[in-house]
Amino acid sequence: MSIVMVTGAASGIGAATAREAVRRGHRVALADIDLAGAVELAGRLGSSALAVELDVRDEEAWEAAFETVAARLGPVEVLINNAGIIHTGYARQLSMAQHRHMVEVNLIGPMTGMMTALPRMRAQGHGHIITICSMSSFMPLIGYTSYGATKHGLRAFHHSVAIEEQGGPVTFSIIHPPGTRTPMLEQEMADPSSVITFAEKPLTPEHVASVIVDAIVKKPLEVVHPALAGRFQRVAGVFPRLMHVAIPRVAAMAKRRSPGARQTPATPRGQEGSR
Ligand SMILES: NC(=O)c1ccc[n+]([C@@H]2O[C@H](COP(=O)([O-])OP(=O)(O)OC[C@H]3O[C@@H](n4cnc5c(N)ncnc54)[C@H](O)[C@@H]3O)[C@@H](O)[C@H]2O)c1
Repeated sequence: MSIVMVTGAASGIGAATAREAVRRGHRVALADIDLAGAVELAGRLGSSALAVELDVRDEEAWEAAFETVAARLGPVEVLINNAGIIHTGYARQLSMAQHRHMVEVNLIGPMTGMMTALPRMRAQGHGHIITICSMSSFMPLIGYTSYGATKHGLRAFHHSVAIEEQGGPVTFSIIHPPGTRTPMLEQEMADPSSVITFAEKPLTPEHVASVIVDAIVKKPLEVVHPALAGRFQRVAGVFPRLMHVAIPRVAAMAKRRSPGARQTPATPRGQEGSR
């Protein structure tokens, strides 16, 4: 049994992870900017669950959340950095405030969480930081410009810190979920600029949560799930010419698979993704 803090636990993958972690006997702090959502779920999960208000962008709120969990459940032993957002649209369609919002929540947020957890875990002599990242950390995608940039940065930061801390008491794992049926994915599916999301069949949050909770015990370095699913992204992401040829083709294939392809006439070139 571990004391686990899950960020973004009021919805989607985070909520399913909190449920699965409690089911397997862990004590779980559900940290979210959506306190009402976290309180509602924690109430259903019983005395092993605790709701904590946390805006991952706020350094002081991280300190307060760790203190609250330590006082109510015990010192955090596993941090699952999961909270994330997306603003869909092509880069030129988004405001700088939307680009900045993604960077602050998806990159600065988990970085702040890691930097809050690390000294505490080093002092207590053990700890495990699990980063929920994305397959978009391996390859740029149309419609996922800043989102992908935050996930590329997050993967780099995660591994850099993990390598610096090798031999120390803290373990690091990073998990890249594939498309998962959550409110975030619904948002992407509703926007033609993110049509590439139809390239793969999404998993359930429960399926992904099971992989994440397994990691608490297995402590993998990095998980791409399903194991072979990410091979195209990982290879294409290294070769710019291949990327520039392959990604528009994957997007075109995904568009043919999308429900919109059967309902709307073809979009004139240059206007794809306009909302
Ligand atoms: N759904 C997918 O297809 C998919 C695929 C790969 C990676 N991911 C990643 O998985 C994670 C969870 O995504 P999801 O699909 O479950 O999303 P979701 O939208 O269902 O849930 C995100 C949660 O994060 C919370 N949140 C948002 N901003 C916050 C902030 N500033 N501070 C604290 N909490 C905040 C929200 O309130 C919400 O509860 C994200 O990091 C996402 O990038 C999702």
